[in-house]
Order: sequence, then C-alpha cells, then structure tokens
Amino acid sequence: MDAQPKYLALVDRLRLDIEAMPTGSSVPSERSLAAEQGVSRMTARRALDELEREGLLRREVGRGSFVTRPAVSLPLRLTSFTEDVRARGLVPSSRVLRLETAAAGTDLASLLGIPASAPVTRLHRLRLADGRPMAIERTALPASAVPGIDEHDLASGSLYEILESAYGVRFDAGEQTIRAGIIADADAACLEVDAGSAALELVRTSACHGEVVERTVSTYPGDRFELSAQIEPATARGPERRSALRERD
Ligand code: GLP
Repeated sequence: MDAQPKYLALVDRLRLDIEAMPTGSSVPSERSLAAEQGVSRMTARRALDELEREGLLRREVGRGSFVTRPAVSLPLRLTSFTEDVRARGLVPSSRVLRLETAAAGTDLASLLGIPASAPVTRLHRLRLADGRPMAIERTALPASAVPGIDEHDLASGSLYEILESAYGVRFDAGEQTIRAGIIADADAACLEVDAGSAALELVRTSACHGEVVERTVSTYPGDRFELSAQIEPATARGPERRSALRERD
C-alpha cells in the first residue's frame, strides 16, 4: 500500500489545530509552516491549498491565511439540502432524530391546510456535510400525501428525491422565511456548538399543484451557512411586490 503523501499528513495535523482556533485567527505562512514542520515549501503549499479547498482557511493576497469555517451557500430557490451541499463539493448525509405520525393539531394543520385531526408525519433530521453537522431540520408532511414514507431510507436519501420518485411530488411553489435565532439547549450537542450561540432559521413551506406537502424549520449554526440570492430592481415585477422584510410573528 502506498504511504500517505506528506502533505496529507500535514493537512491532518493542521486541520486539528485550525478547528481548535477561533474564526479569523491567522494561520502560519507557507514559509514558516515549512520551517516549523520540517517539510518543503511545496508540501506546505499543497497542505494550505487542501485546507483552503475544504473551506477551513481563506487566503488574502499580501495579508496571509486566516481560519474560516466551510460555508455552504443556500440559494433562495427551491433546492434541497442535498443539492446545496453537493454544489459545494461535499457529501451530504443525515441522522434521523425523530420519525412519527400523529394528529396535526390546530397550528400545524392550518399551516399545512389540512384538518386538525388529520395525521401528519414529523421527520426531524440532523443534516451533515462531509460528516460535519450543519443543520437540524424539522419537517412536517401531511401523512396522506406520503403513505409509507417511513419505509424509505431517510438517513442516506434526499427527502425531495424520495418525494419525487415515490410520490410524484415535484414542488412548483414555495415560501421561505429567514430569521435569526439561537441554538436551543436540546440541539447544541448534536450540532457541536454551544447552546445560545447564533443560528439562522429557515422556515419553508413547499407546495405541489396548490397543495402544501412540506413545512420545514431548518436551524443552521450561524457560522456554517450564508444565503445568496439574485436580486432585481423593485420595479421589475410591478408595484404589488411586497417587501421581503417584515415584523417577526
Ligand atoms: C432544504 C430545505 C428543507 C427541505 C430540505 C430537503 O434544506 N430548507 O425545507 O426539507 O432541503 O432536503 P433533502 O432533499 O436533501 O432531504
């Protein structure tokens, strides 16, 4: 078996150091790394290149390298977690935290547009990218739209792919609200962040042919995601277009 290339051994050592350093700290230069670690500058450069590719450091011309955390861009479109993570070159996976079907109750029923006594499937998942926890997603689906969903592999599969292939659901409309939040005590350990730290919450309601099939509250630690959207002039779609900014419920 081939020995591990030198730069990869250095990457492993540096990754541990970098993960223990706060975001924004400065990372030794190629030259000082080579001297400190007793490797060639070429090896030091390849290690820094790899860490940059993994999103763990950012290089600024003339200033040096700084610790960062991999951020996944969440487009403001109806894409799935799986698609967003793959677009960043990372491998998505999930851990199912809860999967059960019970009566909706009034609040959820009105959000999903179904009677309060109608059954709803609640699916809570920890979402990971390259094995690193990125979000907790709490999804509610009208059970009548997804009979037998618990027989699918929700730990390695994409919910959207399952909805499309097994139930013919391809979302054609949706609404997404983005708000600031904090990480709840119960979610902190799973997400590997401190309780009370900053979070980004996305609340998405997605529909297919006028029927709501999904309502998901996604909680992302604040340092792991950024949102990006194409913006257009306010006049582009007529005066009735409402502002995206509104008072929180
Ligand atoms: C995004 C959305 C969620 C949706 C999920 C589906 O994260 N914010 O509302 O449930 O994608 O992802 P997947 O198909 O990977 O399970």
